[in-house]
Amino acid sequence: MQTIQTRPELRQKLSAWRGAGERIAVVPTMGNLHDGHISLVRIAKSHADRVVVTLFVNPTQFGRGEDFATYPRTPEQDAAKLRAAGIDLLFAPDVATVYPFGIDAATRVSVPGLTDSLCGTGRPGHFDGVTSAIMRFFALLQPDLAVFGQKDYQQQLVIRRMVDDLGLPVEIVVGPVVREPGGLAMSSRNAFLNSKEGEIAARLYETLRGTASEIAAGNRDFGKLAASGMETLTEARQAPEYFEIRRAADLALPRSNCTELVVLAATRVGTVRLIDNVLVAAQ
Ligand code: PAF
Repeated sequence: MQTIQTRPELRQKLSAWRGAGERIAVVPTMGNLHDGHISLVRIAKSHADRVVVTLFVNPTQFGRGEDFATYPRTPEQDAAKLRAAGIDLLFAPDVATVYPFGIDAATRVSVPGLTDSLCGTGRPGHFDGVTSAIMRFFALLQPDLAVFGQKDYQQQLVIRRMVDDLGLPVEIVVGPVVREPGGLAMSSRNAFLNSKEGEIAARLYETLRGTASEIAAGNRDFGKLAASGMETLTEARQAPEYFEIRRAADLALPRSNCTELVVLAATRVGTVRLIDNVLVAAQ
């Protein structure tokens, strides 16, 4: 595994692979890697000849007062895990390499509509930061495919929409949520939960799954189900931001005859913000 930090080195490396007709996959990350990330690397390896992981804590996707400064940074451990996972290249640029004209003057890409609700409401500007960074990585790497996790359900839909809208030749592959033994979705921010908070946090998946089972069993009262999900999380001593049932394809509010749905929630346990979701195919 080689680690590269600059644009010219990256260009040189990738054009050699491309010239040899090799298929290139990228797994974009912000580091502090866990088994969820490594599962995405495995998926990337099964689809491509070369796997590149990007490690960049992207400042433009953090709002004012959010945890950019304290976001866990563990570059040595990350490199060791990626070496063990057998990737070809780690691209770990600094902020000036990704945004050479500075953040305020940076070209932005935004996807209106899909980003206006759910996490877009609680974190205004967040998805514009994500798409602006991912668009840069796609331009720099020109990968054949990119792998994202289903845990960030809205994020992967927004990125797919950007790719479809701009006609980018990048296939988007989504890997399933990887969970702790108690059900909590793996996330870099889980490290900030103490053991009591960990137990409280596990109620999130349990509640999402409960709602998904009710829908699968024929309950169509989505408004009531969502309100009851909020109540259950609050009773479990979480501070839920939203608990929603949406159409899986585009996050629109579902009609009662809609069959492909997703139950999504964002919540806070202590100071830690958690998101998770469960897909449900109703009859
Ligand atoms: O999901 C993440 O870790 C980030 O949002 C991403 C996709 C790497 C963009 O910075």
